[in-house]
Amino acid sequence: MSVTVRVPAKVNVQLAVGAARPDGYHDLANVFLAVGLYDEVTVTPADELRITCEGPGAEQVPLDRTNLAARAALVLADRHGLDPAVHIHIAKDIPVAGGMAGGSADGAGALVACDALWGTRASREELLDICAELGSDVPFSLVGGAALGTGRGEKLTALEVGGTFHWVFAMAARGLSTPAVFREFDRLGEGRDIPEPAASQPLLDALAKGDPDALAAAVSNDLQPAALSLYPELADTLAAGRAAGALTALVSGSGPTTAFLTRDAESAAKVAEALRTSGTCRTARTAPAPAPGATVLGA
Ligand code: C5P
Repeated sequence: MSVTVRVPAKVNVQLAVGAARPDGYHDLANVFLAVGLYDEVTVTPADELRITCEGPGAEQVPLDRTNLAARAALVLADRHGLDPAVHIHIAKDIPVAGGMAGGSADGAGALVACDALWGTRASREELLDICAELGSDVPFSLVGGAALGTGRGEKLTALEVGGTFHWVFAMAARGLSTPAVFREFDRLGEGRDIPEPAASQPLLDALAKGDPDALAAAVSNDLQPAALSLYPELADTLAAGRAAGALTALVSGSGPTTAFLTRDAESAAKVAEALRTSGTCRTARTAPAPAPGATVLGA
């Protein structure tokens, strides 16, 4: 018997970052939107805990207990007095080290899959609590849709979305480390007054209305200058997408994936094709939003 869970990538339509806290984390106002690019996590009973991974960038995915999927299985088993003896297989489609919460998605996916396999029937509250312990973006991977994340991003308030948004994502040739991007944010902000992060009301209104022009005018990412500083070539990718007709272009989370909002599916296909042939990225994909959170596909 095995259980497969499908879990979405995310883009941050707003990522407002405060000053570094004493614990090294940063307070955020983080507007998450789940997008239709998915990893699939399959768990099968085994003699001991092990992980395998296939798909683009799979060779960069750690297959030991530092992988959030392994940690999810270990934490759930520990809390319920179970043996975490499962084979976790990850079929990756979310870019690895790409700023789209692929590792977080695998953590949330493995948690939901193990809960179903083992019949632990953990409450939603307990699952969210374990997700927050695993990482700042993991709770959102569980719930999907759209949400405002505060604190270090893990405290979620669900947001209304009034329509489908058509996105294009350009995958970069290499990855970026999230802690390195936050460190660069701190370096660039040295000596400056960094305001408390707050959600943008025009952005929340644009999401609620399903209005792509209004959303395009309101998106922002405080980590973008840091990501561009570490990966200057991303400026060419952003320019190529804008030139091809995207309503707006931004770095996704800590990058280096770049995100392009378009008016409709037809425009998204055009922008993706232009990006693929631009020579400024590894590949480009279209994806609608919002997408559902971690979903059990079959048992
Ligand atoms: O929570 P998570 O383990 O995913 O965070 C990865 C890294 O990103 C942290 O170690 C920290 O360097 C940075 N981070 C941060 N502030 C946040 C979230 C993440 O500085 N709110």
